This record gives sequence, structure tokens and C-alpha cells, in this order.
Amino acid sequence: MLNARSIWKECVTGVLNSLLEENGAEKSLSAGDIIVETPPKPELGDLAFPMFPFAKLLKKAPALIANEAAARLNEMTGTGGGAAAAGPYVNIRLERGIEAKAVMDAALDGGGNFYKSDALRGMRVMVEFSSPNTNKPLHLGHLRNDILGESISRILAASGAEVFKVCIINDRGIHICKSMLAYMEKFAGLEPETAGKKSDRFVGDCYVEFNKMSKTDAGAESRARELLRKWEAGDGETTALWKKMNQWAVNGIKETYKRTGVSFDKYYFESETYIRGKEEVLKGLEKNIFYRDDDGSVWADLTAENLDKKILLRKDGTSVYITQDFGTAILRHEDWPFDKLVYVVGSEQRYHFQVLFTLLLRLGFDWARDLRHLSYGMVNLPEGKMKSREGTVVDADDLIDRLRDMAAAEIREKDRAEAVEAVGGAAETAEKIAIGALHYYLLQVTPEKDMLFNPAESLSFNGNTGPYLQYMGARISSILKKEGVKNDSVNAALLTSDEEWELLKTIAAWPETVKEAAEKMNPSVITAWLYELSKNFSRFYHECPILGAESAELKNARLALCRAVRTALVSAFDLVCIPFLEAM
Ligand code: ARG
Repeated sequence: MLNARSIWKECVTGVLNSLLEENGAEKSLSAGDIIVETPPKPELGDLAFPMFPFAKLLKKAPALIANEAAARLNEMTGTGGGAAAAGPYVNIRLERGIEAKAVMDAALDGGGNFYKSDALRGMRVMVEFSSPNTNKPLHLGHLRNDILGESISRILAASGAEVFKVCIINDRGIHICKSMLAYMEKFAGLEPETAGKKSDRFVGDCYVEFNKMSKTDAGAESRARELLRKWEAGDGETTALWKKMNQWAVNGIKETYKRTGVSFDKYYFESETYIRGKEEVLKGLEKNIFYRDDDGSVWADLTAENLDKKILLRKDGTSVYITQDFGTAILRHEDWPFDKLVYVVGSEQRYHFQVLFTLLLRLGFDWARDLRHLSYGMVNLPEGKMKSREGTVVDADDLIDRLRDMAAAEIREKDRAEAVEAVGGAAETAEKIAIGALHYYLLQVTPEKDMLFNPAESLSFNGNTGPYLQYMGARISSILKKEGVKNDSVNAALLTSDEEWELLKTIAAWPETVKEAAEKMNPSVITAWLYELSKNFSRFYHECPILGAESAELKNARLALCRAVRTALVSAFDLVCIPFLEAM
């Protein structure tokens, strides 16, 4: 529980030290040497302290130490609860009433301090995520990236860090020129509106068209490369078309961000950072950090680091993907000097970032030590693999639409349209359910792991899903609407049943949970806690009558517990970007 763990740790340390002293030992222990576990069965107590680590020091059998320590702990006063030896363990039973009161006071504190922490105070973290290319709309992979980045940013901020969210729009390069070429040759004059398409989709369709074209038209590739050269040379017409098509792509992409609740403090554009990147590469060449090949291309030799050789500028002088990343990183550090920069990017780019970080260090940027690649696995649909060239990619918008339509059908089937009228109506509720389903499902898996996104499963109302949690929030909200908490007479010490105890313990674990999620930069720590909370709330709800409690005082205490759970849900939902629903 909140402080009980550390208080008991101190007590156990004190008792062991007095045993050591009596033994004439020189060494003394500190609280950090003491391990706390949870007993395997609740009947055994709430905390378990294993004694075997001290057997050598005390020259005694662990069970004997446990016996003596338990006896002495019980002699001490003011700690509440009780100690008992069980084999090599000292088990502690906490005083439920006292603990319940402490947890409820903290969890219901109006200042909301329970839900914020200072752990990372003073730390400046820049988080890069999403970072799309402007030749196509966002797809399912981006949805995982976006929500990982947004959620990690929120978790770090809740831990006291100063967070700056950035996105690099890769708006130049051969892939962009391919969409442009297809547009010029196949769709010239058309506009997204006249074509009846969302603007980023329109650009994406041009890209798919190019790949179709290039199968039968051997010259298409070289015409695209010619376009890239014209673009880098600043050709007027090429630049104008490029600007127009990029605007289409970026506007459409930003609409999708808005829909999913993702936002950035600053957008960087490759077209603006690659020049700086090129300059830095050329400086490195001058200093012999890089070398020029016979054909004129510029390379870095990383064989000493086991990272092979890496091209930095093509023989015609044009930039490659990594060129801009030098410029982007340097500009970012100038704009907002960070203590740490986290790149949320797919695991297939692990090599890219190893090379980038190594070369930035070689160029003399010491802060490159604070760069980190947060790599995440692939996400596919049960239907199979996606390939963007062939147009079999699942667009983010289409997927959310599909989830929304499925949720809307469910609302109709269950006759809930009227119930949600007061909270925005069926359409808005369906959209929020879709977002909740999507985000919870994506975040529940540890980032490094590949995963399948199963739309039907993500929406299931009875399982470990976003909508199930949203439903729980709505149910609690409705209880609290029926009957408010009488604030001045909450007697939380009455909350001592097993179900109430388990629920309170989960709430009490919140600060540690956020700390762990921030340290690991892993939102699945939060979703796992949410699932635990929902299971324990469900048990409480079935076993402990709330409005029908046996006394008015108990009813009020249980209502207050409901409110604490609701507050916990709202706070946790915010960190994993699940919309909270008052009714469902
Ligand atoms: N736009 C790139 C892609 O789609 C990802 C960019 C990752 N970030 C970076 N700084 N390189 O592959």
C-alpha cells in the first residue's frame, strides 16, 4: 500500500540491525537491502519479507531469523497490523481500515497529486513519432507508432518531465517524385475534391499508380529520378507541383491526427533540414571522417563498429534518407536543447539509427549519447501482410471508419442510442468507442513485439478491451449520478472486505505503475494496471452492494470508493488516449 511498504521495510531493517548488533557484526543493513514480496496467498498477509538473504550474515537458519524478527516486530508499536513467521518469511498483515483511509485520502485529494509525480522533474525529453512520408496517407503501422509516441509523451509528462513532441515530415526524395510523376502523366488537372477523395488518399493513389505504371513502362523509374534532380535544382514547375501535392498529403494526415487525439509541438520538414544535413556530411568529408568513392559518392566506413559501409550522398550529389537525419537532429538540439531524444520508429530501422547515432558522435556532437531509438514491431491484420506499393495497405482512416461502423451497429443493436443522446449522441459515441478500442489494443502489446490487430476482438465488450473499460467508466458515472458522495462523512475505514481491499491495493499501486511505465517507456504497463483495476472493480461491484449497502455510512464509503476508481480511470485513460464516456 501507499506508505505501508516503506514503513514496514524500515521496521524490518531496524529489527535485523538490532539482531546483527547483538551478534557483534560490523555490518549494518539499509532499507535498500530488504526485499518485499507479495505472499502467494492473501490469507498469509499483505507483505512478505524473505529472510534467507541474511542467513549468512546472522549465522542462523532463515526460519529462525523469521521467528525472532516477527516477535520483535510485534513488540514495536505504532505500525498497525501484525507480523507472523511462515518458514523463511516474515509476513505482515496490514490494518485494512487504516490503509483504506490513507489510500482514499490520497486518491481523492483535490490537488490531484496522486496522479502526478516528480520523478523526472527537470528532465527535458524530446519525443519524435509518426514521421510520415508525403507520398501516401497514414496506415495501420502509423497508428501504432502514433499512439506509442503520444502515450509515452503523456506518461513522461505525468512523471514530471518537460516533454516536446516532434514529427519529421519526409517530404522529399524519390518516393515523393514517384507520386508526382504519376500525377503529371495520369491525373494532371485533377484535384482531391474533384476526384471525391480525402487529399492524402488522392496522393497515395498516385503512388500506387506509379508502381502499376513502372511494371510495364521501363522508363518510369528514370523519369522519377530526373524529377528528383530537377527538384533539387530548384526547378520552378517541379517545385510548384511538389508544394501542391505535399499540402494535400500533410493536410489529410493532420486530419487523421486530430481524429486520434495525437498532436505535436513542432513539425520538421525534411525539405528544410536536408541541406543542413548535407553541409554536415561535407564538413565530415573535409575532416576525413567520411570518404569519397571513385564515382563521387560520399561514404562512412563503420566496419570498425561492425556496422558496414554506409552511403551518405549519391554520386550525383543528391541526399539519401540518412542525410537529412543529421540536419534534423542538429537543428532540434539547437531549437530545444534536450536531455534525451527518443525516436519512436519501427524495428526495421534499427540499423539506420545505430549508424546515425555513431556518426553524429564522430562528428563531435556529444549529445548524440542521449539519443535513443524506441523500436516497435510490425502490426498486421488477420487478413495478412500489407504492401504499400500494391495498394494493399490498410489506411488508418479506413480502419477507424470500420471500427466506428461496427461500434455504431452495436449501439443500435443494444438499443443504446437514447442512452447516449445526452453525451453527444450515437455517432460521436461510436467514434470514441472506436478510438478506445484501437488504442487499448495497440498499446496492450509490449512495443518491441510484432502483433496482429483484430478489429472484432478489439471491440468486444466482455474482455480485456478499451470498450469494456469505457463501459466500466460509464457504469460508475451512472451510479455516482444517481447518488452523490457525502464528502464530509466518508468513513473509508469501513472498506475492509476482501473485494474492497483488493480494489484499494490496485489504486494504491498507481504511483509505482506510472513510474515503471515511464522508466520502461512502455504504455502496456498502464493497460495491464487498467485491466487489473477492472477485474477488481467487477468483483467489488458483484459482491458489495453499493446503493443497497447495509448502512448509510457504508453506502457513502462505497460511493467514495467508486469515485476514487472513476478518478483513477479518467487519469489512466488520459495516459493511453482512451476517451472517457459518461454513458454508453
Ligand atoms: N518517414 C520515415 C519512414 O516512413 C520514418 C522517419 C523516422 N524518423 C527519422 N528521424 N528518420 O520510414
